[in-house]
Amino acid sequence: MTRHNQIAMDCFESLSRTDSNKWHPNLWPPFTQVALTSPPQKVISANGAKLILEKDSRPLIDAISSWWVTLHGHSHPHIANAISQQARRLEQVIFADFNHPQAEQLAERLSKKTDLERLFFSDNGSTAVEVALKIAYQYWYNRDEQRHQIIAFDGAYHGDTFGAMAVGERNIFNAPFNKMLFPVKRLHWPATWWEDETVENREQIILEDLEKSLETPTAAVILEPLLQGAGGMAIVREEFLQKVALRVKQAEALLITDEVLTGFGRCGSLFAFQRAKITPDLIALSKGLTGGFLPMGVTLAKEQIFQTFVGDNPKLTLWHGHSFTANPLGCAAANASLDLLEKAPNLYQDFEARHLPHLQALSKHPKIEHPRLLGTIAAFDLVVDGPKGYMNPAGRIIKEKAMDYGVFLRPLGNVVYLLPPLCLTEEELEQCYSAIQLGLSAL
Ligand SMILES: Cc1ncc(COP(=O)(O)O)c(C=O)c1O
Repeated sequence: MTRHNQIAMDCFESLSRTDSNKWHPNLWPPFTQVALTSPPQKVISANGAKLILEKDSRPLIDAISSWWVTLHGHSHPHIANAISQQARRLEQVIFADFNHPQAEQLAERLSKKTDLERLFFSDNGSTAVEVALKIAYQYWYNRDEQRHQIIAFDGAYHGDTFGAMAVGERNIFNAPFNKMLFPVKRLHWPATWWEDETVENREQIILEDLEKSLETPTAAVILEPLLQGAGGMAIVREEFLQKVALRVKQAEALLITDEVLTGFGRCGSLFAFQRAKITPDLIALSKGLTGGFLPMGVTLAKEQIFQTFVGDNPKLTLWHGHSFTANPLGCAAANASLDLLEKAPNLYQDFEARHLPHLQALSKHPKIEHPRLLGTIAAFDLVVDGPKGYMNPAGRIIKEKAMDYGVFLRPLGNVVYLLPPLCLTEEELEQCYSAIQLGLSAL
């Protein structure tokens, strides 16, 4: 057992046992140890930022946008109408033999916004990453060049399919599959926060490591631009990413930005790579793509990459596809979501300023360290004894108290964060911060 996994198990020991028989006998929940957690409450509807629980019809602010997908708010009428109209016209068609207007429109719009010309559809964030990795790797194969190294970062999370697990951090979540995951060169991630005085030194060491690593022929470097989500809302500076991108370009490797979380305004700009002022070769998108209504992923690639897949020899083909590729309902939802983003960009551009006074006030609390803010996302670490990280139980206390106060949070171990939908009102934002204050008092 690795040290990381040992720490995780030690933390698990401190969680209380619950009766797994109380869970629904036919459901297998995601990311959940049923022996150590209570069964979830039932949600009967949702509107705006609020989930409505079956019990007492109690409203609960969804302060993490239901695993970071709900972009504009729940049940937004513009997206709901677009899906409903599309369902009556064309619900699904095989995309290898046919095309449809919603897919064309979405591809044109996203291509214009990212400057990457080609769009490949898949089903979720993991598959969008999986496709990006396969394109990057096959690109060199198609060019008959020997480049096999992939570089990724500590703390990364890119999804749960095998390729995505391989480039993500190796930890308790993928330990059973470790021997099946391809090797990846890994670099530290220089996470930073307010008043961090050591970041430049840490970045410099990592950049030197990157330069050395790039001496090995490298197919691609993959990173979450500006913010690692599941890795603890770990923010890096734009300057660092610019230096990484420059070195990757000099080594003629491909740069993949996984914007599954950071895309669609979450970091204050439409895409995080734009705020960071870097130019990726491939981008993976999902989550907010359909406004959070339907599962869909897309991978965007430069035209020059696409052209290496074109030719008389069938071996050049990207032999990859999913039954629901470019599902028309998903495309209609994504187009409707883009309408909303285009109509009111201020909603994501101004969110950082809305968080600021609240986080400033909260950051004075003695149980808080490393406050950080990026666009719609505010985060901090709880000062805890013992091992930090995802398995640390401290966040659970905050979660329970916040829930009593009508706010749903899901801390990542000792990292507490807010990642609300864009429709959140001032009153609801205040309620979120009050809920955190209440939770802190209980620690
Ligand atoms: C950056 C990033 N990439 C990929 C994924 C995987 O997405 P999905 O859960 O849709 O497979 C996630 C999910 O949280 C993510 O945050």
